[in-house]
Amino acid sequence: MHWTNAVAMLVMIGSGWGIYNDTVIFGGLHFSKHIKLGGWAAQSLLWHFAGMWLLALNGAAYRIYGIVTGRLRERLLPIRLRDLVQTVRDTLRFHIDHSDLTTYNAVQKVLYIVVILAGVSQVVTGLAIWKPVQFSGLTDLLGGFQAARLIHFGGMSVIVGFLVVHVALSLLVPQTLWAMLTGGPRLPARTPSSTGTRP
Ligand code: HEM
Repeated sequence: MHWTNAVAMLVMIGSGWGIYNDTVIFGGLHFSKHIKLGGWAAQSLLWHFAGMWLLALNGAAYRIYGIVTGRLRERLLPIRLRDLVQTVRDTLRFHIDHSDLTTYNAVQKVLYIVVILAGVSQVVTGLAIWKPVQFSGLTDLLGGFQAARLIHFGGMSVIVGFLVVHVALSLLVPQTLWAMLTGGPRLPARTPSSTGTRP
């Protein structure tokens, strides 16, 4: 699901930049033709609408699986302010502990929650600007078409910002990348007496 999401996100970001170029929101901001997907806006829209099914269905499967199995809560909660401050301090001193890849630190938890919510926000605001007539109630709730468009662009910026940090950190700790490709880190064999909740 992670790698499917990675592909879907790249398609949505690249094609979104192609759509944006057609009617820019910020005067000086255009995306280079080398990083956008689709030769012109109509092609970018086709990519966007194709990618949205992959993104939304994969995202729904991930969230349902995470909620039903309790994985999301187990991995991402609780978040304590004390842990957050400590992780930031450790990070600034380059003292982050990577020995247990199955447990996220407080900063990771916050970032993952933010990006999961940004993904949901993209689907909701995307629906509002895709079908502003059929979903007029939703579009109104978001402050109208232009406001929904702006929030949609903001969500993309949050996701791209997350991606830069996420990719940089995973390259700094390559064992995480390997674990994500092979289905998880190597764990010690379980003994009948072990009481851990993790498989
Ligand atoms: C189900 C999910 C999504 C739907 C239905 C959707 C729908 C749309 C639509 C209809 C537009 C065109 C707006 C216009 O006509 O001006 C658009 C633009 C755009 N989308 Fe999405 N989108 C979705 C997800 C995403 C995601 C995940 C990203 C990036 C992370 C993204 C990034 C963008 C960007 C950058 C634009 C151009 C902003 C603008 O100029 O309006 N979208 N999207």
